[in-house]
Amino acid sequence: MFLEKIGIIGALDAEIDILLNSMENKREIKIGKTVFYEGRLSEKDVVVFKCGVGKVNAAIGANTAILKFDVSKIIFTGIAGAIDNKLNILDLVISTDLVQHDFDLTGFGYPLGLIDGEKSIKFKADETLVTIANNSATKILGEDKVYLGTIATGDQFVANKRQVNFIGETFGAKATEMEGAAVAQVALNYDIPFVVLRAMSDKADGSAHMDYNEFKPVAADHSAKIVVDMLKHI
Ligand code: ADE
Repeated sequence: MFLEKIGIIGALDAEIDILLNSMENKREIKIGKTVFYEGRLSEKDVVVFKCGVGKVNAAIGANTAILKFDVSKIIFTGIAGAIDNKLNILDLVISTDLVQHDFDLTGFGYPLGLIDGEKSIKFKADETLVTIANNSATKILGEDKVYLGTIATGDQFVANKRQVNFIGETFGAKATEMEGAAVAQVALNYDIPFVVLRAMSDKADGSAHMDYNEFKPVAADHSAKIVVDMLKHI
């Protein structure tokens, strides 16, 4: 029988705390600077780890999880800044797809976000995982707090309205963060199904730094609790 192992990634300690505290048979394996925790969660084999902030850290983590731990699915859990002005702090966005909003080869005639060698600027998430995430999220948070849509990733903490409007208008994104599309690019490179869950800690505006500090723990926990429920349905 094929026993699958699910990779669960957060960028920050706060984003994986609940998962690590709920795991059974936890074993620690350090590869490079990353500490991976293998064990059982919701009666599934998992490897949970903090990748650190930004696209390179995220890519290192996702690639290592695939090649060293043989994960067959990847779930990213964490927080983000809201881009769509319908969203409130603590609402959740589930990725239908992701884009790297700071990838710029426009000088060579490419659309903003298009990476050389890719067919589209957007990396599509796995539809089954999106549905499972949506079911768990609506059950836990309520339908009015859950959105499906594009997540825009870049190596920047967005904290001004002008950039929010730009990312929203250019990519039709609902939320922005700093890791998701890098994980997506790595996962798709190996045909590994993935989904990204992001609870809003701020609105990526002038108050973003303050809101981020206030809402980070509760937003991170919301997203992680949804992952715990998702695992029961995978
Ligand atoms: N993660 C949480 N809030 C964010 C923001 N405003 N920009 C980028 N990443 C974030």
